[in-house]
Amino acid sequence: MGIPQPAFYIFKCEQSAPPGMPKPSCVSQNNPESQQLFQYLAQKLMQEGIMGTVQPIRTSCLNRCQLGPVMLVEPGHVMYAGLTKEKIDRIISEHIIGGKVVEEYVIDNEYWDEPISPADFKKQMGM
Ligand code: FES
Repeated sequence: MGIPQPAFYIFKCEQSAPPGMPKPSCVSQNNPESQQLFQYLAQKLMQEGIMGTVQPIRTSCLNRCQLGPVMLVEPGHVMYAGLTKEKIDRIISEHIIGGKVVEEYVIDNEYWDEPISPADFKKQMGM
């Protein structure tokens, strides 16, 4: 038997805008909790004993900055918005362990509609 691949990857946006920048960002000096969320997520996975099969990944901007802090759970394309430590707790226990997406924390459809396949996207772009 080979080494099992992770069951989930959690991409946590760790982009921070420089001080004075008007654009919102997922990690912000104005929101001290936002600076602790990746570490909190990693600790939570360790406490639950599931770090080996759930891989947290620090990523740069996921292009939904105005709704941050955000993180994307794969597989499933599930984008969670407006994260806090409490929300991470529930996402880990209900979605990652329990298998049920926490719908109330999922980004609004208006900002996260169905994906367009690359082949269709090329057609739309006239290529
Ligand atoms: S800064 Fe996090 S989505 Fe853009």
